[in-house]
Amino acid sequence: MPPPVTPAADDVRWQPWYYLGLAVLALSILTAVAIFTNAACGSGSASPASPSSIAATPSATGTTVQPSVATPEPSPTSPASSPTSAPATPTAGTAEPSTPRATPTEDPSPLVGCGLLAPVDQDHRISRDCVVGPLVEVEGFSLNAEAAAAWNSMKADASADGIDIYIISAYRGYDVQKQLYDQEVAAFGPDQNTSAKPGHSEHQLGTTVDINDLSGSFGDSPAGQWLQQNAARYGFVMSYPPGREGQTGYAYEPWHWRYLGPGTASAYLGSGQTLNRFLGS
Ligand code: DAL
Ligand code: ZN
Repeated sequence: MPPPVTPAADDVRWQPWYYLGLAVLALSILTAVAIFTNAACGSGSASPASPSSIAATPSATGTTVQPSVATPEPSPTSPASSPTSAPATPTAGTAEPSTPRATPTEDPSPLVGCGLLAPVDQDHRISRDCVVGPLVEVEGFSLNAEAAAAWNSMKADASADGIDIYIISAYRGYDVQKQLYDQEVAAFGPDQNTSAKPGHSEHQLGTTVDINDLSGSFGDSPAGQWLQQNAARYGFVMSYPPGREGQTGYAYEPWHWRYLGPGTASAYLGSGQTLNRFLGS
């Protein structure tokens, strides 16, 4: 019969810290297994490091810079390139696609009332559909009926004095004016001072005529001189006289005459002001 096995007093298996060590080791193994398992299945969780939340970051950033798509660069030849245009400056956090915003094509100029004496100029616009009617046809052009009657009377009296005056432009709608303006800007640049922006032309009122010859020398011609001496009696005034470019914003245009009516035309001549200031702009 073998002798009973009795543990030696110094056998580590019988020491309390031996079992404590085993327990700590087992706990460590269990913890490591648990961490590994969680990491392997975590892609479907709401962990901050999940692929879905990572993917959301560039998407949100893309929404913020969307103005580069929604807001086209203004064309250098469009009225939008004017310094008076509203800047469509994108700002962070305002990129909601459904939020209405100013576009580069909008004209921020103050809108003035539509009428015979509308103070329309470079800084003040009339509405797109503004026209002082009724319009009638004169020499193949459309013109306000009252202005047309005054024109016919003036033309007859000029003719009696041996002066031939004839219309070369009268009413121009918004879209026609835009075409002319764009052509002028394309040819001479945005600082050109002979064509009004659409919505800013007296021609759109239907009360304005260009006469005979689009040249500065027309002012010195017999017809140009006759108009300067007589046109106000019929109600027509020269909107852009020489030496007043700084106030009107336009070059001298001896051919461009606007109908105000005889009383207002006379008051304007006596005022010494430019027409835009006289009319209140
Ligand atoms: N030429 C003038 C300024 C106009 O375009 O109305
Ligand atoms: Zn004109």
